[in-house]
Amino acid sequence: MPTITSIHDLKRLFKRRVPKMFHDYVDSGSWTESTYRANERDFQEIKFRQRVAVDMSNRSLASSMIGQDVSMPVALAPTGLTGMLYADGEMLAAKVAEEMGVPFTLSTMSVCSIEDVAGFTSKPFWFQLYLMKDRGFIEDLIQRAKAANCSALMLTLDLQILGQRHKDIHNGLSVPPKMTLSQLYNMAIKPRWCLNMLSTKRHSFRNIEGHVSDAQDLSSLSIWTQKQFDEKLSWDDVEWVKEKWGGPLILKGIMDEKDAQLAVKSGADAIVVSNHGGRQLDSAPSSISVLQNIVDNVGSDIEVHMDGGIRSGQDALKAIALGAKGVYIGRSFLYGLGAMGEEGVRLALQIIQKEMDITMAFCGEQKITKVNRSHLYLD
Ligand SMILES: Cc1cc2nc3c(=O)[nH]c(=O)nc-3n(C[C@H](O)[C@H](O)[C@H](O)COP(=O)(O)O)c2cc1C
Repeated sequence: MPTITSIHDLKRLFKRRVPKMFHDYVDSGSWTESTYRANERDFQEIKFRQRVAVDMSNRSLASSMIGQDVSMPVALAPTGLTGMLYADGEMLAAKVAEEMGVPFTLSTMSVCSIEDVAGFTSKPFWFQLYLMKDRGFIEDLIQRAKAANCSALMLTLDLQILGQRHKDIHNGLSVPPKMTLSQLYNMAIKPRWCLNMLSTKRHSFRNIEGHVSDAQDLSSLSIWTQKQFDEKLSWDDVEWVKEKWGGPLILKGIMDEKDAQLAVKSGADAIVVSNHGGRQLDSAPSSISVLQNIVDNVGSDIEVHMDGGIRSGQDALKAIALGAKGVYIGRSFLYGLGAMGEEGVRLALQIIQKEMDITMAFCGEQKITKVNRSHLYLD
């Protein structure tokens, strides 16, 4: 077993253990992947201000996101197909998030259902919604999230059309996987994954199967999305969702200050500055590069969160210093999950927690709630 000291180590192990089709699904962006790369790269440009001879004892990362206490302001982002990286992946990740005191967000396109996760955890989790054309089904999903005691609804606004990811098309990504010769080969060389997958009955999109036609054999994600997702999604729909839900609402996929202002008008509780991890509009700027401007525009009116490219506690701390009240990690926890299951998610969160804590100390700060732009070199 290799020694794991960073998210990068988990990524390497993830590549070794997860079949190519699902590895590539995680580790890809749309078209040229320039935004995917920029999300990670732009963090490197931001530099911390080192302070010395200040009291670094009694540090705390405790904070809150949408008024809910968190042990550190780092949540697990909603990610589809997570249960294909490791058996019952969403249930395991939600359990670890609960144990670590951070929010877990379940995707509409998850393998484990809302009910599966609710039955496996004891604290409320968050549910991410995609708006589909069938409003009856969406109302039903919202009711299921309420019945499961979900404590926030996250409406994703940037995926009514699927950004083209070349690798998924080349790999013929499907759920459950199609047994072509090349897929069979790819699975045969990952026996650990195959055995692990045999240990669960959960191999499909359990939130939507039985409700949405074709959901059992999702042979083409893009064609299916085209058929089911509502391209006419508007701010009126946001209002409709807000009314049906009636609880804390987070709007995900905001990259422009005008949209951020409309989000404030909508009465939502928080926005997530996000380009979907570089998987939608390629050549969009990195999330971290637009964060500051959006915080300056709406930060006093609405809670601003961000995601995209966070691969360390240092990255997370930079986003907090720029004004995000909380951040989400997508791939960082998926690498851990695919590499080592529950233990890998725990390690990913522990690594990020430790890096954040120690970096905060080097910057001469004791409380995450006090971290601000003065800890960074800004132009
Ligand atoms: C494999 C994968 C699946 C994703 N699925 C969803 C999803 O179902 N719903 C959603 O709102 N965002 C989804 N996202 C985007 C994440 O919520 C998040 O915005 C992104 O992963 C953040 O970037 P990072 O992976 O660099 O941390 C997905 C991202 C990845 C990598």
